[in-house]
Amino acid sequence: MFSGYKNAWSDEQAYTEVYRNSIQNPNEFWQSHARGISWKIEPSIVFDAVTGKWFSGGISNVCYNCVDRHAIATPEKPAIIWYGDEEDERREISCAELLRMVIRIASILKSRGIKKNDVVGIYMPMIPEAVAAMLACARIGAIHLVIFAGFSPEALKYRLTKSNAKVLLTVTSFRRGGKEIELVNRISDAIDIDIINLDSITYPDNINADIEWQNSDDDLFILYTSGSSGNPKGVLHSALPYMLYVAATFKVIFGIKRDDVYFCTSDVGWITGHSYITYAPLFYGLTTVIFSGSPTYPSAERYWQIIENEKVNIFYTAPTAIRSLQMFNKKLVKKHDLSSLRVLGSVGEPINKSAWKWYFETVGNRRCPIMDTWWQTETGGIILAPLRNLEQKPGVAGKPFFGVETEIIDGELVLKGHFPGMCKSIIGAENATQDGIFRTGDGAAYDGADIKISGRMDDVINVSGHRLGTAEFECAISKVAGVREVAVVAVPDELKGQTAFAYIVPNATDIAPEMLVKKVIQSTRTTIGSIAKPDYIAIVPDLPKTRSGKIVRKLLKNIAMGSDALVDISSVANPQIIETIKIITQNSIFVPNMCKL
Ligand code: WTA
Repeated sequence: MFSGYKNAWSDEQAYTEVYRNSIQNPNEFWQSHARGISWKIEPSIVFDAVTGKWFSGGISNVCYNCVDRHAIATPEKPAIIWYGDEEDERREISCAELLRMVIRIASILKSRGIKKNDVVGIYMPMIPEAVAAMLACARIGAIHLVIFAGFSPEALKYRLTKSNAKVLLTVTSFRRGGKEIELVNRISDAIDIDIINLDSITYPDNINADIEWQNSDDDLFILYTSGSSGNPKGVLHSALPYMLYVAATFKVIFGIKRDDVYFCTSDVGWITGHSYITYAPLFYGLTTVIFSGSPTYPSAERYWQIIENEKVNIFYTAPTAIRSLQMFNKKLVKKHDLSSLRVLGSVGEPINKSAWKWYFETVGNRRCPIMDTWWQTETGGIILAPLRNLEQKPGVAGKPFFGVETEIIDGELVLKGHFPGMCKSIIGAENATQDGIFRTGDGAAYDGADIKISGRMDDVINVSGHRLGTAEFECAISKVAGVREVAVVAVPDELKGQTAFAYIVPNATDIAPEMLVKKVIQSTRTTIGSIAKPDYIAIVPDLPKTRSGKIVRKLLKNIAMGSDALVDISSVANPQIIETIKIITQNSIFVPNMCKL
């Protein structure tokens, strides 16, 4: 089965042997993968289990490994193929051209005084320059901080300020789904920072972008993600150990070949766009296809056209995208020749059976294994995947990657010990990795010898694969003048996986509900971004609370989900409100999509 996809652990026993060895002799396992790294000075040992240190004495550079060495070896080979919003918008960036782009951006950063360890903000759409900007930072030892272009200027400002960023790289605007979206004009008034607009810049005459050699303690990037506390948290990743982890997982899980064309539909604004659009494919000198348009504009065939045109071998996308494309006629897929595909990947949310089946049958033609990959911003790279190709279980991510120890404690997936992808620190959640144990916040259970993920156990909502905290929503909504109190809970959504349901108590009875809803949506949009819209809003006279005044969210969640399994209400101080909330919930206001981003 899956003749195009071969690995050495295609059955349970082979996997178990390789896995056991990787845990018992981590240095040996990681050494075999570190051989692919080009060093300036080779490390004396890859992993020292006594000190927990990676690459003792080793010196290298991430940009050198992902760009320079391929510009020397295969200068003409396409490193990046970009597709824009319209079908005829295509750019091909060779390895040599990518190096030139990286050097130009790095020299601008240097001319603005950026030095090693300075933080550089990147607020850009999915264009080759965004990838080049990340690599330019890596080249000069600066720490990049990519902020998804769909986040609002306020969310951007929070991240830049918290991380003490020195400059911000951006562009004038971009097009998505047929609409022009402004960037530079949206931010220049709101934020006091040195802004470099990459499409109207004159590059300095003196190109000065020497490689800053990195050792194992040096950092590569900060990326913000949502946690269960109010504010988003900054996840800091190292340079060289992170590169080793994303490279090793990519090679093993996708079974890559040297001339593969690889297409991942994520965005550099998320961790998948860092690890598996930028660093892992470019480390191996593969061609990485990037797309800045919408999968359904101008028709729902964009992914299939791109796969056919570029003869894509590995395709990596999210369940939300699959579910939204599954609604269209199969013919839109079947009219394209997708026979180049060898492996399919899924990431970001649990994949439901019907989406899995459609992906496997209609897109993969039953020929391609589906790598359902579970991981997080904090882990840098993939942790769970179906590391066996004889049997496919829809919706079961499967086995831990080699060298990573997992356990399920009280129904929660927990990671133990050291592996090179784990972030160095989390700004805003400093105790997260205490005692060598990392609680993932995801519910999990064993399915035979495999692990099946059920979803978040904490106050994080996963909307279309995007992590958003209920506390972030509540913070944005409580800013609205007419709002006295708010509680936001997650409810299942057929298309997005989950969505936000907001219960709002107005501070006066004469406020028109339509007006309040409008203001609430406006506030989530300006505080977080247009991806953070609650789909349902119920305006209620009060919220259920304990005697000490704590909102009983679990009860609200059950009501929102229409579940009769009400939690113990003996702790609710105002139980008379429950019936009223139930009735209003049934007539809650559905807020239709207003913006695609
Ligand atoms: C969820 C994205 C089920 C999970 C790479 C996790 C998944 C959160 C899967 C991390 C999967 C990701 N199956 N759930 N295959 N992949 N998740 O940090 O809840 O943006 O905790 O990283 O996405 O989201 P993050």
